[in-house]
Amino acid sequence: MSARGDGWAGGMPRYPDLAGKVAVVTGGSRGIGAATARALAANGVDVAVVGRDEAALSAVADSIRVAEARAIAVRADCTQQDDVRHMADTVAEQLGAVDILVAFAGGNGMPVPTTEETPDHWREVIDTDLTSAFLTISAVLRTMVERGHGSIVTMSSSAGRQPARSNAAYAAAKAGVVAFTRHLANEVAPNGVRVNCVAPSSIETDRLRRWTTPEVRRQLAESFPLRRIGQPADVATTTLFLASDASSWITGITLDIAGGMIMI
Ligand SMILES: NC(=O)c1ccc[n+]([C@@H]2O[C@H](COP(=O)([O-])OP(=O)(O)OC[C@H]3O[C@@H](n4cnc5c(N)ncnc54)[C@H](OP(=O)(O)O)[C@@H]3O)[C@@H](O)[C@H]2O)c1
Repeated sequence: MSARGDGWAGGMPRYPDLAGKVAVVTGGSRGIGAATARALAANGVDVAVVGRDEAALSAVADSIRVAEARAIAVRADCTQQDDVRHMADTVAEQLGAVDILVAFAGGNGMPVPTTEETPDHWREVIDTDLTSAFLTISAVLRTMVERGHGSIVTMSSSAGRQPARSNAAYAAAKAGVVAFTRHLANEVAPNGVRVNCVAPSSIETDRLRRWTTPEVRRQLAESFPLRRIGQPADVATTTLFLASDASSWITGITLDIAGGMIMI
């Protein structure tokens, strides 16, 4: 990747051990998840792209299918246990046992003053940004433990690392993902399963572009020590590393992908 971080300008990072593995990427229908699915497929990984929007899922799967790797689109609402179990069965049938789980579905971080917060919205955010990770991991974890290997990457946010402009439920959910990751990593490390987390700050997805003007994005870029907004590729390349054996002695960490903004 280039110093500016745009796309794959410096060439796609390669981790040869990934070739032939099977990955599930939730949140794969767009944004960061789609970029991560693309990066895995380019490394020879068979990928199941998971989300709720079937048209978007098929478009991503069709665009990343390459000669060396298969890609399938599987619809699942990751807040629903039955959907997620069915997704795991479909992946096992069509691609085989899951080696890599990228649990990125979520994104309910629009600011809400806590004085205006409702119990229903609070629960919805916790379901979307925390419980979804638990349900997705639960659907594949037993098989990983039985096989004695697996790499799981979860999705937090800078909002879960320090106060930010989001809503309190999102901050609590994303901080919960960090704690869940560490707890689980410790629990399943003796079984050969690694669990790590990424915590991005502002990543320039279509969603971020919809909600900001070019001038706001320019000011935002200036606010980062590294003077740019993050790109989906920044998260995808970090996830490749955490998925691969290049990080085989790393588990339970949270990597802040935040242009130097978060230093804890
Ligand atoms: N962009 C950022 O600046 C940023 C920063 C920190 C963390 N994050 C996190 O990164 C993750 C990806 O976000 P993004 O920025 O790439 O946003 P995005 O472009 O809006 O993508 C969100 C993805 O999550 C999926 N999703 C949401 N709820 C789901 C559910 N209940 N079941 C299944 N899939 C669901 C969506 O799928 P469908 O639309 O197909 O349902 C979509 O693929 C989120 O967890 C978000 O919190 C983003």
